Amino acid sequence: MWTSEEWVAYFEHNATNLMPIPWGAGAGATREELAEIIESLRAWQLGETSDGTRLTRAAERHAAQTYDPAYVEAIKRFIAEEQRHGEMLGRFLDLAGVPRKGRDWGDSIFRLFRHLRLRMEVWTTVVVMVEVHAMLYYAAVRRATGSAVLRRICHQILRDEVPHLRFQCERLAIIHRNRGRALRALTMGVQRVLFAGVTVAIWAGHRRALRAGGLTFRRFWGGAWAQMGKAWRAMDPRGYTWPTGRAN
Ligand SMILES: [Fe+2]
Ligand SMILES: [Fe+2]
Repeated sequence: MWTSEEWVAYFEHNATNLMPIPWGAGAGATREELAEIIESLRAWQLGETSDGTRLTRAAERHAAQTYDPAYVEAIKRFIAEEQRHGEMLGRFLDLAGVPRKGRDWGDSIFRLFRHLRLRMEVWTTVVVMVEVHAMLYYAAVRRATGSAVLRRICHQILRDEVPHLRFQCERLAIIHRNRGRALRALTMGVQRVLFAGVTVAIWAGHRRALRAGGLTFRRFWGGAWAQMGKAWRAMDPRGYTWPTGRAN
């Protein structure tokens, strides 16, 4: 498990190791393929562009409780990567001559819920679930388009998301580490119900693009649970060795 300082160093390194995006090639997507994915892409673009104020506040409270001040900086850099995803997708929309989206029902619900004073655990759990679906989603969009620009954007996002998942799962392992067996089983039960709901909601909102990328509901559902299974293993505190004497 990496310390928050190590995560800050990773994000710092990653920011200077981005893949070049061939912006000069233009959008390069056919009208037909855009028709399948563009509405969904506009919604994801909006979703990736939150300013992260609430998440940062939650991270500050959590960092103070766990005596881990560097965690705040790690979260800020994580938010900056998500904003970079939003910016790349926004630039692609501009290139394709498609207006960026100002609001969306999924995003409105999410923003509403951001106004609650949520604990780090809730934030992190939701972020893991969204990122699990993002992995399937951007892989599908990459298959659904011949645009060199969009394919590269998807590739870069997918490359960033793998460490994001690890970062969030490690944090959940820290948060869950002092939980007894019963409470952990309850936590996992609640997560399963929540995950099923998020999977169905994302399919409902994005099925056209997902189908264009070759996913049926069955494949999407199966892929999502397989990915989430890996995340659940990575957030299991029993999979890590813990320094003794560190209060949590
Ligand atoms: Fe992202
Ligand atoms: Fe992410």
